[in-house]
Amino acid sequence: MASLSVLDDRAIDPTLDLEAEIARLRKERNAVILAHYYQDGEIQDLADFLGDSLQLSRAAAETDADVIVFCGVHFMAETAKILNPDKIVVLPDLDAGCSLSDSCPAPALARFKELHPDHKVVSYINCSAGVKALSDVICTSSNAKAIVESFPEGTPILFAPDRNLGAFLQKTTGREMLLWQGTCVVHETFSERKLLRLKEEHPEALVIAHPECEEAILRHADRVGSTSYLLKCAQEPEHSAFIVATEAGILHQMQKARPNATFLPLPPEAGCACNNCPYMKLNTMEKLYLCLRDLEPRIELDEGLRLAALAPIERMLELS
Ligand code: 13P
Ligand code: SF4
Repeated sequence: MASLSVLDDRAIDPTLDLEAEIARLRKERNAVILAHYYQDGEIQDLADFLGDSLQLSRAAAETDADVIVFCGVHFMAETAKILNPDKIVVLPDLDAGCSLSDSCPAPALARFKELHPDHKVVSYINCSAGVKALSDVICTSSNAKAIVESFPEGTPILFAPDRNLGAFLQKTTGREMLLWQGTCVVHETFSERKLLRLKEEHPEALVIAHPECEEAILRHADRVGSTSYLLKCAQEPEHSAFIVATEAGILHQMQKARPNATFLPLPPEAGCACNNCPYMKLNTMEKLYLCLRDLEPRIELDEGLRLAALAPIERMLELS
């Protein structure tokens, strides 16, 4: 008899063909699998739709599947549920959170808003439904500039929760904003010293960076943008070497798109693997299989909160 491995108290036969089972269950459940670029390569490879936060929100808004399996982090699956109250939305691991989202509890933002009642609140999508509900409009890294610029010049803006993206936006739009002081655990660890050394060793390499990185990294970048934008940059034919300052999962698609190019992931300050998002990487093939099999764990939301969080997301989708 095959031995059983135990995961969360649910046993999976290790000889099970997980890819085949996932394909069978996906059909049986009429499910769509949405995956972010920071997921493990094997999850990316079997997803129905792969994208950045904005593309995944759009895909969630447009799907006619009965079940959405969100291979990403909690705020992404929660956004899908906000857009699809009648669908079942499952996240392979409910603990897949986000340090940016955790940095901005809704009651704290509510108090900050009270101190600045004249400010419009623009929130990065990496936040909870409670924070979305307090916001005038949501943005992602691919539409943030357009969203900020959609307000008339001189409008006081409070930007939450990512101070690095906020600072980058201040620089690129020329707008002064009040910035919430949240950071991403992955993007804040990149080392400027190591970046300079890599640049010296590979002077021909294009430096491509996500705007969640600190200014010390962004000032050396040739291109700054969302994960899908960075993937596009990696396909610029005149370049064949790239220093990549974002989560390492994106390298899977970059390498697939440019098998002969060189991709150098920017190392973090410590000698650890901190350029892997510890939350994103909680999702595994086993948990993906289990959530399709059991339709658990589900994202559930109070209807009043959902409606309050829906309005600024819809505003974002209209503006982008
Ligand atoms: P993108 O929207 O650029 O994919 O970013 C999501 C994210 O969480 C980056 O850390
Ligand atoms: Fe959040 Fe950073 Fe992970 Fe993105 S990479 S989900 S911002 S912790």
